[in-house]
Amino acid sequence: MGKDLYELGEIPPVGEVPRQMYASLVRPERYGEPEKAFQTEIIDIPEVGPNEALVMVMAAGVNFNNVWAARGIPVDVTKTQARWGEPTEFHIGGSDASGVVYAVGPEVTNVDVGDRVVVHAGQWNLDDPKVLAGIDPGLADSFRVWGYDTCWGSFAQFCLVQAHQCLPKAEHLTWEEAAAPTLTGSTAYRMLFGWPPNTVREGDVVLVWGGSGGLGSLAIQLVTHAGGKAVAVVSSKEKGEYCRSLGAVGYVNRTNFAHWGVPPHWTDPAWRDWFEGAKAFGKALWEATGEKKSPAIVFEHPGEDTIPTSIFVADRGGMVVICAGTTGYSATVDLRYLWNMQKRLQGSHLFNDEQAAAFNELVIDAKVRPTLGKVYSFEETGYVHQLMGDGKLPEGNVVIQVNTPQLGLKDLP
Ligand SMILES: NC(=O)c1ccc[n+]([C@@H]2O[C@H](COP(=O)([O-])OP(=O)(O)OC[C@H]3O[C@@H](n4cnc5c(N)ncnc54)[C@H](OP(=O)(O)O)[C@@H]3O)[C@@H](O)[C@H]2O)c1
Repeated sequence: MGKDLYELGEIPPVGEVPRQMYASLVRPERYGEPEKAFQTEIIDIPEVGPNEALVMVMAAGVNFNNVWAARGIPVDVTKTQARWGEPTEFHIGGSDASGVVYAVGPEVTNVDVGDRVVVHAGQWNLDDPKVLAGIDPGLADSFRVWGYDTCWGSFAQFCLVQAHQCLPKAEHLTWEEAAAPTLTGSTAYRMLFGWPPNTVREGDVVLVWGGSGGLGSLAIQLVTHAGGKAVAVVSSKEKGEYCRSLGAVGYVNRTNFAHWGVPPHWTDPAWRDWFEGAKAFGKALWEATGEKKSPAIVFEHPGEDTIPTSIFVADRGGMVVICAGTTGYSATVDLRYLWNMQKRLQGSHLFNDEQAAAFNELVIDAKVRPTLGKVYSFEETGYVHQLMGDGKLPEGNVVIQVNTPQLGLKDLP
């Protein structure tokens, strides 16, 4: 007879699922600063559905999405969860995991109990009419981000996933390294290769905002692997050199410029100041490429502060591809540059099974290496999200230990 509850780091026999688990929970009544919003609680382990898998979590990757979840903005995630018949009184976040499969539903064929896996965060209704019609599930109405739009994420001893989310863990990586890159790397993969004909080609310049961050550090490697030339945007020399170490051909320090945010109206004489700033940024970017070449792709996520510049510097026929609006959502587009130079502004969100698997293969083949910036203990789940929200995390992706041996507390970056 197994135990009802295991302590963190105490591994149950493979395949034995206890009744309860420790989880780091967010509840609507404590939405706010992540440090306080996340609290460790004991919770019942959910039932496994026919197409689902229960994964014992070794380590969990941290993403910006659960900073938003903790704050309760821009949406209350427990209300989104209601759409999938999940609990509405709490949210267990965590959209990246490495771990071991402990149970599978009767219809699962792609994984078995005992498999060592990483989990990608793309979920959708398997009977969604668009999915059944062969349309990219990333465009399905039921598409959702596991561990953000859904409950039962990886900030818990066990996570519940659709079995198709499980991918083989790269054997050469530690549990912590393996938990770091899947969400950001697969998102970057879709942005760079998922929107033909604007995909990275040999010799293309690609401008990567936040080059040292979670998305950017993997985007640089993907661009380089495809034969492109990544130019990073960063806020310090140290971060710029870090990007070079990942393969970037150069970098631009954004703190040397001041034209960020929504530009003055084009009829306002002050617009020229913005224009001069954007031109100076473009010149710095050309210098960083070493060949006066404009970017075929601009890899965007800051949003409001940077979109006008991104559209301005993109090459004729080039694409600005964006997956977030970290600095705000009310970006303006100067249509003159868009139509005249026939540029494309493309939204992109997460990835589908094929894109996640393609990225995972590059990790398994050691063509892309996880950019594990720092590892935190389970009790630091709120703290690490606080650091992330405050922009105080080190380079790369960060990870929380769940069932791997715990670190000391408050190990500052
Ligand atoms: N839709 C999706 O599928 C998806 C998937 C993954 C992530 N995201 C979103 O993408 C965003 C970035 O994620 P991440 O994991 O890369 O975060 P991250 O690790 O915190 O990196 C963000 C980077 O943005 C840069 N940055 C911060 N403020 C900026 C500003 N005002 N202007 C220009 N750059 C600025 C920072 O670099 P410097 O200070 O060095 O410039 C930082 O390294 C988040 O909002 C996240 O939620 C969306």
